[in-house]
Amino acid sequence: MNRVHIKTYGCQMNERDSEAVAAMLRTRGYRIVANENDCDVLLLNTCSVRDAAEQKAIGKAANVQHRKKHQPNFVLGILGCMAQNRGAQLLDQLPDVDLIIGTQKFHQVPDYLDNLRAARESGAPIPTAIIDIAAEAGSQNTIRDHVEPEANAAPQVSAFVSIQQGCNMDCAFCIVPKTRGDERSRPMDDIVRECQQLAERGIKEITLLGQIVTSYGRKDYAHTGGITPFVQLLERVHAIDGIERIRFTSPHPRGFKQDLIEAYGRLPKLCEYVHLPMQSGSNRILKAMNRPYSRERYKEIVDALRAVRPDMYISTDIIVGFPGETDEDFEQTRQLFEACNYDMAYVFKYSIRSGTPAADMGDQIPDEVKEARNQALLQILQQNSLRRTAALVGQIEEVLVEGPDKTGQKFTGRTRGNRVAIFDAHPRLIGQLVPMRVERGTVSTLYGELVLAGVDAAAEQKIEARI
Ligand code: 5AD
Repeated sequence: MNRVHIKTYGCQMNERDSEAVAAMLRTRGYRIVANENDCDVLLLNTCSVRDAAEQKAIGKAANVQHRKKHQPNFVLGILGCMAQNRGAQLLDQLPDVDLIIGTQKFHQVPDYLDNLRAARESGAPIPTAIIDIAAEAGSQNTIRDHVEPEANAAPQVSAFVSIQQGCNMDCAFCIVPKTRGDERSRPMDDIVRECQQLAERGIKEITLLGQIVTSYGRKDYAHTGGITPFVQLLERVHAIDGIERIRFTSPHPRGFKQDLIEAYGRLPKLCEYVHLPMQSGSNRILKAMNRPYSRERYKEIVDALRAVRPDMYISTDIIVGFPGETDEDFEQTRQLFEACNYDMAYVFKYSIRSGTPAADMGDQIPDEVKEARNQALLQILQQNSLRRTAALVGQIEEVLVEGPDKTGQKFTGRTRGNRVAIFDAHPRLIGQLVPMRVERGTVSTLYGELVLAGVDAAAEQKIEARI
């Protein structure tokens, strides 16, 4: 009765939280299973950022509740953002849920599960559901355990490291301050130690995670010589032997001061890929969103990044149809979107989140208008991405070989610009940084051939022999 399946909705922070919960459960003797039909405990780690994400998880929970009829010991838990956002209210719709555990209580999941199982085995009366969505000081420090790959699985080459929880920015549309709480950073030494341990395990690529990573440590550490704590952290992770690539998400444009821009010039392990949420290109809407920058400042940051690293890949988040967004406002967004020449973008139709300031703003935008604006941006994105792909064909890109692709016929990895790459390889190359000649590509995926040193040397000899 100890087989657990965790299904994760939403962002990379949620992925990381699920992984940490899985690691904690494993050390307690639970088995993490890949197939949800084979589990005794199903944990849904949820997202609240848009209504659709909540509805998806609620639909899933409603569907699986009936498993209790033929599997009486089945346990269903709702974790994370939606648990935090809705709490006990979830039981109105989902009366058979056993656990509702908020974002500051992930580390309590093993205890709650143990207690629930012990109560069931002893035949003691069981509470309708265990609900814990309280705040807990220091909870940001509990997301640190990593699952070790199983004996014959492909070795892990890339890892997420949580550096911070919560956000104090209060963007008018956003539920995150409610679901994740106040900004709290982990101690820098702990993060660096975690990265060192990952490096010792063969991890080559680290992605630092937080809701607003560029604010990392701002209340805990001094700026030294104009260098923010976040850039100090980047420097320390950069110094770790074995770590070859560093990424981070999500930053705030406000955090792109000179020290971070310059870091791209002097820290070669920092990949030339930045996710830079723009949200809107209209100054009027940015103000209404409570985003403290202008379209002009945003473009300046993009230009500064490309001045330091001309091959920079930039992705973004955009919300279309924020309350009061006129055609003129959208036109401003469209123009800035085009001018930034994004490699990737996530375009969202504004979704009302109750309890946020924007939920009470008048002038909500009809869905057809949101959809048309969404499509207009996606079309530009597709053209931009394909243009970038076309420019890459024939070029050599460094890929970090991750393992077999979905088909099992080829291998997959990522370029420094965060494009997925597909190629033929040998399993011994997993975890290696290998040059790949790009042969063709789609909007998001590159297909190519690895340029292996041995092969190259042989080819060179042949050429020399001919001369
Ligand atoms: N509606 C639509 N999109 C939203 N996002 C955040 N809140 C909302 C909302 N209420 C988007 C933002 C953010 C991304 C993670 O989700 O673009 O950057």
